[in-house]
Amino acid sequence: MEGAREQPAPGLRLRPATAGDAGLVMSWRNDPDTVRYSGTGRQVTAEEHDSWMAAQLNDPNPGLFVAEVGDRPVGQIRLQREGDSGEVHITVAPERRGRGYAKAMIGALQDDSALLRGLRRLTAQVHVDNQASLRIFAARGFDRTDVVGDFVQLEWLLPPLPTG
Ligand SMILES: CC(C)(COP(=O)(O)OP(=O)(O)OC[C@H]1O[C@@H](n2cnc3c(N)ncnc32)[C@H](O)[C@@H]1OP(=O)(O)O)[C@@H](O)C(=O)NCCC(=O)NCCS
Repeated sequence: MEGAREQPAPGLRLRPATAGDAGLVMSWRNDPDTVRYSGTGRQVTAEEHDSWMAAQLNDPNPGLFVAEVGDRPVGQIRLQREGDSGEVHITVAPERRGRGYAKAMIGALQDDSALLRGLRRLTAQVHVDNQASLRIFAARGFDRTDVVGDFVQLEWLLPPLPTG
């Protein structure tokens, strides 16, 4: 990705996260709904978050992005790469939910061929009770592949590269 880029939702752009986003990203992570549907079901401590954020920022192939509308941050989306798969994690700022931003953020990721280079699929794990998230990923073309414990496994295969 070359800096911020215009996205399908009017005015929504993704940009790589910076150290200055740490406090905001932690507050979104510890929001009650995010905690409820997280894998651990608990808040993270400041120490845990600092070390996690440092790892994200030091990754040579960064996967953590902040979505902005104008100059206002509205959420974060993270691509956790493993081989040719990328697991998508998303949080919208609590006061900005219900405006289509999550769908736009996932769409922005799906449209960014530079960011997705080397990947064949995007995946997501969504809590079975997280109806908003299940709707969003379905709307963005993700299919259910399995249910493991309390989490629906979802997958979206990248379109084949054009030939010729
Ligand atoms: C899930 C989350 C990312 C959605 O963000 P958002 O910007 O509000 O999502 P959108 O506005 O793009 O879409 C919301 C969709 O869910 C629906 N929705 C919202 N709340 C809902 C609920 N309680 N039950 C059912 N559907 C719901 C909306 O109607 C909309 O669907 P529609 O367009 O078909 O009407 C946001 O609520 C969030 O950050 N939650 C906490 C973290 C989280 O759960 N992340 C996902 C982990 S996989």
